[in-house]
Amino acid sequence: MSGRSESFKVNRKPITMGLSQFLASTYSLYLKTQNFHWNVTGPIFSMLHTFFETQYEELAKAVDLIAERIRALDHYAPGSYAEFSKLTRIKDAIGKKNAEEMIEELVADHRLMVDLIRELIPISEDCEDIVSQDLLIERLRTHEKTIWMLDSFLG
Ligand SMILES: [Fe+2]
Repeated sequence: MSGRSESFKVNRKPITMGLSQFLASTYSLYLKTQNFHWNVTGPIFSMLHTFFETQYEELAKAVDLIAERIRALDHYAPGSYAEFSKLTRIKDAIGKKNAEEMIEELVADHRLMVDLIRELIPISEDCEDIVSQDLLIERLRTHEKTIWMLDSFLG
């Protein structure tokens, strides 16, 4: 028997489903950013290696916040590669890329995250879930800031 009423759980189901996609997408972007931290090469290696590290650490913290918000809504938080690969909007990085291609791919992915968040905010509104909405707005702020920073590398 759950601590939360059944109506609480049912009413918030749409936002929880959306947050599960958001969790999987954030995890995928975290993994890709760490992949690029490992594999980046070129004259600004040191700068990008550190820059990507700051970003994947930030994304790892976000993953935890999103999963725990799903749990606070009394739903199961997905946490396996099989589940994440079904739910994510972010495609895996394939093959070897140069630094510029990595940055371009991350900019495109952070833009997808922005689009996903903008889809989820009205759902949080419909579910009267201002706490999830607050989390989404905070994540929106971070993704938009990251797009600006990544874009700045491209000149
Ligand atoms: Fe490292």
